[in-house]
Amino acid sequence: QGVTIVDHPLVRHKLTRMRDKQTSTKTFRALMRETATLLCYEVTRALPTHTVEIETPVAPTTAEEISGKKLVFAPILRAGLGMAEGMLDLVPSARVAHIGLFRDPASLEAVEYYYKTPEDIADRLVIVVDPMLATGHTAVAALNLLKRSGVTDLRFVCLVASVQGVETLRAAHPDVPIWTAAVDAELNDHGYIVPGLGDAGDRTFG
Ligand code: PRP
Repeated sequence: QGVTIVDHPLVRHKLTRMRDKQTSTKTFRALMRETATLLCYEVTRALPTHTVEIETPVAPTTAEEISGKKLVFAPILRAGLGMAEGMLDLVPSARVAHIGLFRDPASLEAVEYYYKTPEDIADRLVIVVDPMLATGHTAVAALNLLKRSGVTDLRFVCLVASVQGVETLRAAHPDVPIWTAAVDAELNDHGYIVPGLGDAGDRTFG
């Protein structure tokens, strides 16, 4: 509950190519962007709309527009940047919040190094994006920061989650629904998702 697995064939196919270690940096980056666009389509599926009056070249008619809060995409650096690009392809008017967190390799705790959001972020719907939800520490820390900024309407989107990561995030932030392309069973001793796709930041940026 609160977790949507996006299992569209295009998403599954692209994720397979991303998991494959033979995939080059260039292709990985392109796939990340394309998959994020597809995930964006799903995470925005239930946005409210209202009716407006317009005139087509042929006749007046009623049509629909999106209503409600404006969007912010909040990529967790670094790897989330690649996903934010793909989401902005679909919602180019959205604002962007940057959240710098890295995972300490020894403790696996999230360490904050950058946090910059649009001024009116508290009034917006914030979609946090990070390809990997491993232990969940990074996602929990990112949502803590955003809530401290007054944000009340949050969603989390990732590519690959671990069972443990989903449980940790749901326990810490039960009000934040999750969208993911896959949930993998395990984490290894280094906190990597197994089978996962490796270190998404390194595979995108080197
Ligand atoms: C990775 C990944 C997530 C985090 C997930 O980032 O992109 O942000 O780890 O791990 P967690 O759920 O166990 O906290 P990393 O720390 O490698 O930083 P990078 O994206 O800058 O490479």
